[in-house]
Amino acid sequence: MADISWEVFDRQVAACEMCPLCRNIHHKVPGQGDRQAPLMLIGEGPGQVEDEEGLAFVGPAGQLLTRMLAAISLPRDRVYICNIVKCRPPNNRVPEEAEAEACKLHLRMQFALVRPKVIVLLGSTAARHTLGPDIRITRDRGRWFERKGVWMMPTYHPSALLRDPAKKREAWEDMQSLRDRLMELSLYEDLYGREE
Ligand code: URA
Repeated sequence: MADISWEVFDRQVAACEMCPLCRNIHHKVPGQGDRQAPLMLIGEGPGQVEDEEGLAFVGPAGQLLTRMLAAISLPRDRVYICNIVKCRPPNNRVPEEAEAEACKLHLRMQFALVRPKVIVLLGSTAARHTLGPDIRITRDRGRWFERKGVWMMPTYHPSALLRDPAKKREAWEDMQSLRDRLMELSLYEDLYGREE
C-alpha cells in the first residue's frame, strides 16, 4: 500500500463509488474511535441511525455494544470501531459479496493505519469476510484465530443479541475471553476505564 495516512483514507472513502451502495445513503460511515487502539471491533454495515449520523454503532445495537464493553471496563472511545461496508445497505440487508469485496480496500487501509493487536468480529458477515467463508458464527464464536500476529475472535452481533436475548450468556463468555486475552497481551491496563 503506497500512500497511507488518515487524510488519504478519509478522502478515499468520501470519493468512493466502487459499488452501488453509496447511491442511496445520507452519510458514509467510515468508522471512529481511538486510531491507535490495540483493539478493533468490526461490524457488518451501518444501520439507519448510523446512516443518519455518519457514525458506526450509535443505534440500539451500538448502545448494547457500549454496555458490553463497559461490562469489562472498556470505555468505547478507547477502541476503534468500524464495519465491513461503509455505506448502509438498503433495508439493512446483508452486504453482497461484491459490495464487501469492493469495500475491503478501505478496511485494509484501516488495519494498516490502526495496527490493532486484537480484533473482535461482530457477527457472521464480519467473521466470514475477515477469517474466510467457512466460518460459522454459532460454531466458531468465542474461538481465537491468530493471523500474522493479530488475535481475532468472532462473537455474536449485538443486533442478534437484541433479537434473541438467550444468546447473551455466550456473548458474556466471549467478552470475558476478550478481557483475558487483553490481559495476557498486557493490553488491558492500557485500555480499561480507570476510576477517577
Ligand atoms: N450494525 C452494524 O453492523 N454496524 C453498525 O455500525 C450498526 C449496526
